[in-house]
Amino acid sequence: MKVVPGLEGIAVTETELSLVDGEKGHLVYRGHWAKELAVSQTFEAVVYLLWYGHLPGKEEEQCFRDLLASQRELPVQVTEMLERLPRKMDLMSVLQTAVSSLATAEETPTRERAVSVLAKIPTLIACRYHLLRGSRMPKIRRDLSHTAHYLYLLQGREASPAQIRALEAYLILTAEHGMNASTFAGRVVASTGSDLFSALTAAIGALKGPLHGGAPSEVEGMLEAVGSVEEAEPWIRRRLEAGERLMGFGHRVYKTQDPRAEALRKVSEGLSGEDPWFHLAVEVERTALRLLEEYKPGRRLHTNVEFYAAAVLRAVGLPKELYTPTFTLSRTAGWCAHILEQMTHNRIIRPQSVYTGAMPCD
Ligand SMILES: CC(C)(COP(=O)(O)OP(=O)(O)OC[C@H]1O[C@@H](n2cnc3c(N)ncnc32)[C@H](O)[C@@H]1OP(=O)(O)O)[C@@H](O)C(=O)NCCC(=O)NCCS
Repeated sequence: MKVVPGLEGIAVTETELSLVDGEKGHLVYRGHWAKELAVSQTFEAVVYLLWYGHLPGKEEEQCFRDLLASQRELPVQVTEMLERLPRKMDLMSVLQTAVSSLATAEETPTRERAVSVLAKIPTLIACRYHLLRGSRMPKIRRDLSHTAHYLYLLQGREASPAQIRALEAYLILTAEHGMNASTFAGRVVASTGSDLFSALTAAIGALKGPLHGGAPSEVEGMLEAVGSVEEAEPWIRRRLEAGERLMGFGHRVYKTQDPRAEALRKVSEGLSGEDPWFHLAVEVERTALRLLEEYKPGRRLHTNVEFYAAAVLRAVGLPKELYTPTFTLSRTAGWCAHILEQMTHNRIIRPQSVYTGAMPCD
């Protein structure tokens, strides 16, 4: 039996949800270019596309938006639990605990349950965020879109249309991405016949890792450590010579430009093109690509989505500790779509391992 480390190049299922073509740099959601959806659709419309199979008409979209908005409130016991969790617990672990606490009994995944969880993720994040800061979360509203309401809950005021549009583009571009590690984790759990909440907590655990969804906050840390354009080259050289990785570069599938990075670069340029931080990001990217080619020739390492995700999230005013939780918010849409799809032709995902240990003496 051949071992394929990291399951690289292995297809575990067929899916109608998204195409990730790493050679051509293409990302398609159910027949639509993700980068076009990001500038022309709302997050709700894209979730609808993923869950129902087609883009909604005006009325369908409004109904879906109202449905999501109607389920934003957290059960009292969940709010109380958020207050009691240790302060040092990181927000991703809090989300895992909170999502699993939404489960009521053994329940098969359905779209209704997916709506209920997706609607509550922004409230969970904002509630914990305010608890830790000692500030008050504003009263939940139903008249704002999912994206606008998330910013409103965090910041206590309505964000500008440009900020809402930028965050919406980020949420759409990160909503779904084929068989990435967290989606795979979610599908494995769903394939055992377990419930939606268990599958989602597994996915959240996988997303938390710095090689997956934990990268954007590390990108910001990297830019802070670099500090200035002049320091970019010596800093990156030191890092590569120490055998360390540059966050926001490289991808298991994309061996060319990540289309999401390209789209987010434009979004962040539109929003903060004058900001010195954006200028530093552009320079660090340019230097990093040149030095990656020098230190890792032929590995085809390009900028990935997380690099400019950090720029967009920063530009809309989110603090670093909310970057990965915000990614969780968007990817919950893709996870739920995959979990629902898994249920339509389920076969337990159960690969094998090759034993290399000792055998009994006899
Ligand atoms: C995303 C990632 C985990 C993909 O990993 P992968 O497909 O397993 O790639 P590999 O680990 O096989 O890397 C191949 C080579 O490129 C190098 N490499 C990959 N990403 C690198 C990076 N970001 N910086 C420096 N070198 C990198 C590896 O060290 C390896 O070099 P080697 O051949 O000398 O051993 C990896 O590129 C990475 O760690 N990136 C940084 C984290 C990040 O931005 N994650 C967000 C992903 S969207």
